[in-house]
Amino acid sequence: LFYYFMKICAIVLSAGRSKRFKSSLPKYLHSIAGKAILDYNLDAIRSVKKINKIEIISNKENKKFFIEKGISPFIQNPINGTGGALKQIFNAKKLNSDYYLVTLSDTPIFDYKILRNFINKSISSKTDLSVLSQEVSNPHGYGRIVIKDKKLKSIVEENDCDIDQKKINLINTGIFFLSKKAISNINLIKKNLKKSEFYITDLIEICHQKKLKIDTYQNRSLPIQGVNTILELQDLDKFYQNFLKQKLMNEGVRIIHPETVYIENGVNISEGVIIEPNVVLKSNVNIGRDTIIKSFSYIEDCSVGINCQIGPFARIRPESKISNYAKIGNFVEIKKSSISEGVKINHLSYVGDANIGKNTNIGAGTITCNYDGKNKLSTKIGNNCFIGSNASIVAPVKIGNSAYVAAGSVITKNVKNNQFSISRIKQKNIKNRIK
Ligand code: UD1
Ligand code: MG
Repeated sequence: LFYYFMKICAIVLSAGRSKRFKSSLPKYLHSIAGKAILDYNLDAIRSVKKINKIEIISNKENKKFFIEKGISPFIQNPINGTGGALKQIFNAKKLNSDYYLVTLSDTPIFDYKILRNFINKSISSKTDLSVLSQEVSNPHGYGRIVIKDKKLKSIVEENDCDIDQKKINLINTGIFFLSKKAISNINLIKKNLKKSEFYITDLIEICHQKKLKIDTYQNRSLPIQGVNTILELQDLDKFYQNFLKQKLMNEGVRIIHPETVYIENGVNISEGVIIEPNVVLKSNVNIGRDTIIKSFSYIEDCSVGINCQIGPFARIRPESKISNYAKIGNFVEIKKSSISEGVKINHLSYVGDANIGKNTNIGAGTITCNYDGKNKLSTKIGNNCFIGSNASIVAPVKIGNSAYVAAGSVITKNVKNNQFSISRIKQKNIKNRIK
């Protein structure tokens, strides 16, 4: 069969009940570094061009989560094990691919290359049943890979392991690559009597009897480990955090006390940047070189230019752009705003739906009043302005270039270029202080 015309179907098993996870949200929707476990799985699958079809198996209760994502899953009923899931879909649907990749939705795949290599090796060696294996320090709970005479003999589940098998730390990742021939034996899997479930792993011994070619490939890249409990999720999350941060540090980002810093996928940081302890960088954050992000800042889905100073205790919310040389100080919140070069917003301010021109200084406690109870309204402040402390700028409003707004003013009307604007009650000093 010519390699390029080969049809490969991926099947993602996600019909389990996540009993050990104890969460109302299915475990595959829990995220690591801002991305759902399921999406690590699907993105890895989608990155393999040879895969031309994806089938997802769900239970009926969780069908809605897939429909929301525009995916129409195959419903497994009853929930009778990983082998049961495959039996049901093959008996119900006319799947006629040359090969099938089986993955588990509770198993994030961090390094997409692994999947590609695994598939390529399996196809080129004409293997009918390939298992992706992985060495782990604590194999408890995983299916153990039993090798005899250097060949894969079987996979034994935790419950069925004898004392020696329990010590094996080469485990089944749950990822299989199966030829049409291998899968045609699916109905020969018998119920595991202890758990009253059909195990996909039992297909190995059946394929042995049928003299099909069987092999295992060991993953030596980032771990592929299924998550059954919240603690296991936490372990994997910790590993991945370290991986993301180590990568940044190798690229020249100074992260001080990295164990206190949280970073998500999609964060791009240039060299020379310093991240102080206890900083959170979520989703798509881009930070230009030599910027410093000081402690306790929470920065999300935005871009920060070069040589900026952010925080301590700054919050920058989605769709904000902080240009070069800007300073955003303590207890300042910026939302969906464009902050131009050299702007200073040093203390206790809220700037939302605003556009602030170059080198403008926003005094302490300044608020852009961007919400009238119904709509979000915008504010534009020009270049080189001075906004005095505790000004309330009531949107929609425009302040021109080089304008000066006196402290404590409530600005409801536009201010033109170079104007001085003051709106506050005149101070009265009364002679005799009332006693
Ligand atoms: C499974 C493997 C084990 C492997 C481990 C890797 C079997 C019998 N065991 O164990 O060898 O080391 O994964 O993480 O395959 N699912 C269904 N329908 C079902 C049951 C499960 O779709 O009826 C799905 C689950 O949603 C889950 C996956 O299959 O995504 C694995 O099920 P799980 O119960 O987590 O199996 P493990 O005990 O982790
Ligand atoms: Mg599992």
